[in-house]
Amino acid sequence: MVRTSSFLAVLATASLALATAPSCSLTQKCPSDTPCCSQYGQCGVGAYCLGGCDPRSSFSLGSCTPEPVCKSQTYTFENLDRVQENTVYLGDASKADWVASGQPVSYQNNVLLTMAPDSVGTLLASTTYMWYGNVKATFKTSRGQGVVTAFILLSDVKDEIDYEFVGVDLEDAQSNYYFQGIPNYDNELNISLSDTFNNYHTYEIDWTPDAITWLVDGQIGRTKKRSDTWNATSNQWMFPQTPARVQLSLWPAGLASNGQGTVDWAGGLVDWNSADIQANGYYYATFESVTVSCYNATSSPGTNTGVSYTYNGYTGTNDTVVDGTDATVLSSFLATGTNMTLGAVASGSSSGTQPSTTAETVPGLTGGDPGVDSHSSSTTAGGSTETATQASSAPSSSSSSSSGFSQGNSGSTKSGAEKLGVGQEQLKGSIFAGIVALMAMMAL
Ligand SMILES: *[C@@H]1O[C@H](CO)[C@@H](O)[C@H](O)[C@H]1NC(C)=O
Ligand SMILES: *[C@@H]1O[C@H](CO)[C@@H](O)[C@H](O)[C@H]1NC(C)=O
Ligand SMILES: *[C@@H]1O[C@H](CO)[C@@H](O)[C@H](O)[C@H]1NC(C)=O
Ligand SMILES: *[C@@H]1O[C@H](CO)[C@@H](O)[C@H](O)[C@H]1NC(C)=O
Ligand SMILES: *[C@@H]1O[C@H](CO)[C@@H](O)[C@H](O)[C@H]1NC(C)=O
Repeated sequence: MVRTSSFLAVLATASLALATAPSCSLTQKCPSDTPCCSQYGQCGVGAYCLGGCDPRSSFSLGSCTPEPVCKSQTYTFENLDRVQENTVYLGDASKADWVASGQPVSYQNNVLLTMAPDSVGTLLASTTYMWYGNVKATFKTSRGQGVVTAFILLSDVKDEIDYEFVGVDLEDAQSNYYFQGIPNYDNELNISLSDTFNNYHTYEIDWTPDAITWLVDGQIGRTKKRSDTWNATSNQWMFPQTPARVQLSLWPAGLASNGQGTVDWAGGLVDWNSADIQANGYYYATFESVTVSCYNATSSPGTNTGVSYTYNGYTGTNDTVVDGTDATVLSSFLATGTNMTLGAVASGSSSGTQPSTTAETVPGLTGGDPGVDSHSSSTTAGGSTETATQASSAPSSSSSSSSGFSQGNSGSTKSGAEKLGVGQEQLKGSIFAGIVALMAMMAL
């Protein structure tokens, strides 16, 4: 969690020079004109009110858009037709399975999450939320120091269940969980396995109101019972219990701008001139499929009989989640949970009038709050979350046609330079490229 957001520090720096969205936290809620507090702790409208919007730190509980309920399904990646960019998605889970930031690339029936030089990688977040249930993902991780691959569940109040892989240790899956984003250094546990870069493994999270089980290739690697998480001070279970999105990501923990603890955890700074970069123009993690089985409870908690999940209380515990029939789709990037039709395009004029997306309508375009760094000593609670964050923008679907990808270090058909050229071209024209350029200027 948290540590991810620390890699946003570099982007937060850039955002100083851009129009900065106000920041938000549990003790500093968003103002009424930008009511939605994003996953990265900044206020805005539009996509700020969608996935990741924390109702507790927003202007009101209703500021965030209702969360599409769980759907049991297997997702594969023969193409990216069901992947929508975060600058396009407005909450209609019937039209998209994943919301992307960064550069996903379709390759041999898999999706590659890519991380080109000086980018912040790629994030795919599911459009529907799981309220307990079972999720498994089959994938190969990336590799190299500072390079982190992740498969996590993350709720809007920052309950989190993780698999994380640091690219310097291909023999361990790091399992972890957080209750409402509160750092706890004793929650991490390694599950050992064989070479995660060269082998597909199936990583599974089985989550019920009573326990979380992490399984790798069908073998139990770890079980955490709710009964072992009681906090007598706060009088509650410090156990993930709210609807969460599935997030697949590749991100650079090893950036000099990140906390030293994060860099150390990730095994050092990212080498932007590594063999993988030279061969393909980017680091990559290879995702084959994801299967979600909803929990199917017949009474709360853990149901999925309605249309959407909302919160009716600020504690963010499982008794404050309502499985109801509220709509989930915003009319435009100007809308919010309290006025979902704001900025609607008049029917008939189907194109052209949609307001363009800006830093205040799509979180991450200018980065977010640096948050806390669970791997450094100077932590403060409540930062945003793991995952990739991604600043970025626009996966171009055209990138799916990118050829010349070479798996591993086997003989490639193109020179490294040519491939690098391809990678850079894909970044060009994205809003993210502008941010990277700005950051580079500021670093001078
Ligand atoms: C898990 O593995 C990482 C990297 O190899 C190591 O730094 C960390 O201390 C291990 N964690 C535990 C709890 O053993
Ligand atoms: C238990 O709750 C208290 C009060 O909210 C908090 O300060 C403390 O860190 C929690 N304990 C653990 C182990 O997380
Ligand atoms: C919930 O029901 C769906 C549809 O019947 C099924 O596919 C899924 O496996 C069930 N989930 C669990 C966790 O039993
Ligand atoms: C979730 O809600 C149920 C029923 O209200 C309760 O029994 C259970 O303890 C809650 N789980 C957690 C983790 O708080
Ligand atoms: C939403 O905004 C539109 C456009 O300004 C306005 O006409 C409508 O009354 C608003 N709806 C609500 C529920 O405030």
